[in-house]
Amino acid sequence: MPGIALVGIQWGDEGKGKVTDLLAEKTDLVVRYQGGNNAGHTIVVDGERYALHLVPTGVLYPDCVPVIGSGVVVDPQVLLEEMETLAGRGVDTKRLLLSGNAHLIMPYHLELDRVSERRLGKNRLGTTKRGIGPAYADKAARIGLRAQDLLDPKIFSEKLTVALKEKNLLLTRVYGRLPLEQADIERAYLDYGERLRPHITDTSSVVQAALDGGKTVLFEGAQATMLDLDHGTYPFVTSSNPVAGGACAGTGVGPRDIQRIIGISKAYCTRVGSGPFPSEADPADAEILVEAGAEYGTTTGRKRRCGWFDAVVGRYAARLNTLTELVITKLDVLSAFDPIRICVAYDYEDQRFDAFPPNQTIFNKCVPVYEELDGWMEDITGARRIEDLPKEARGYIERIEELVGVPISWTSVGPGREQIVRVTT
Ligand code: IMP
Repeated sequence: MPGIALVGIQWGDEGKGKVTDLLAEKTDLVVRYQGGNNAGHTIVVDGERYALHLVPTGVLYPDCVPVIGSGVVVDPQVLLEEMETLAGRGVDTKRLLLSGNAHLIMPYHLELDRVSERRLGKNRLGTTKRGIGPAYADKAARIGLRAQDLLDPKIFSEKLTVALKEKNLLLTRVYGRLPLEQADIERAYLDYGERLRPHITDTSSVVQAALDGGKTVLFEGAQATMLDLDHGTYPFVTSSNPVAGGACAGTGVGPRDIQRIIGISKAYCTRVGSGPFPSEADPADAEILVEAGAEYGTTTGRKRRCGWFDAVVGRYAARLNTLTELVITKLDVLSAFDPIRICVAYDYEDQRFDAFPPNQTIFNKCVPVYEELDGWMEDITGARRIEDLPKEARGYIERIEELVGVPISWTSVGPGREQIVRVTT
């Protein structure tokens, strides 16, 4: 089983880092396929806590090659800073590979992300303000600059001239900002290019060669299914395709090279930023979840919105990603609740929806239908085998499995590496 994709099935922050950690030791390559430094994986290895935004988690494992695929948008300054921080903590970053086709986040992307959000006022998306949307927009508009352009000053300068002409008009005439100087950008970016030169390569061939050689390749998704540009809660989404299919386009491998697709879900549900969230809990329950689950963003520090597990979303994600298994994280956070709610369907006007509704008006206005399960109200953070879990906790896991229709392989009961329970053998 050489190709494994790891995807969040909710609105992000499902704890994908913990699952990567579980698999990484037996993995030869960890490949990021979309997103940028809007992501945040927290990983604890040998008692050391690492918050990674752009560098694939594989960097923490000496035998693993971390790869940034062509579908990722890269802020080279952030990448170099992250590499330096890691190196300063003794992590070898020399193995890191960056696709020459990956698009660059430019200073005007950051500026435009900030000013366009401000302009949207109450309709703002609540982006991470890292320039992600504007960078992907330029990629689609074919005026983006790519990592390989950093290695050719003439090409870089020509492309930047074209892009900057338009961006400066936008910044000055539409948003009333100062224009950016081409010479400043060129100086900074060509310097980044020199420093990144040893890492920039044709990663698609590297990944394919690894797969052909029977190596294990982990395709690491950032954000999650419900933030997918095509299939999520548009427009309250990110600007890339976190779904498993995105791993093919974002790295340059074919669909038949990915055999195992692991969906990651919290035992409850969170989202950051704006947008519909049918199973959002009432403020008192949400506060308990925030505190027990430490639900603050790794990238922005924002408090996450919290709610109950949504099985409709789970089934939708199982279909979109063709999940072969599911991992449920943070089960211990629910120890404070009895009963525990699961959203099993939505009601809209006089219709019941068991499947994800076909249009956003329904999703925006639907009323969640809850099932209540017995809570266990005891500390489960010491559980290591399925038999260690109280019967109510096992019942909860089984019910999710039934409702989503995908076998659950693991559940985590705390942040530590060892706080994980194998559910199916
Ligand atoms: P952007 O990706 O910065 O453009 O933000 C678009 C939406 O995706 C916003 O609602 C963000 O809060 C959300 N988002 C982006 N990255 C993450 C993440 O890693 N976890 C959770 N939400 C995210």
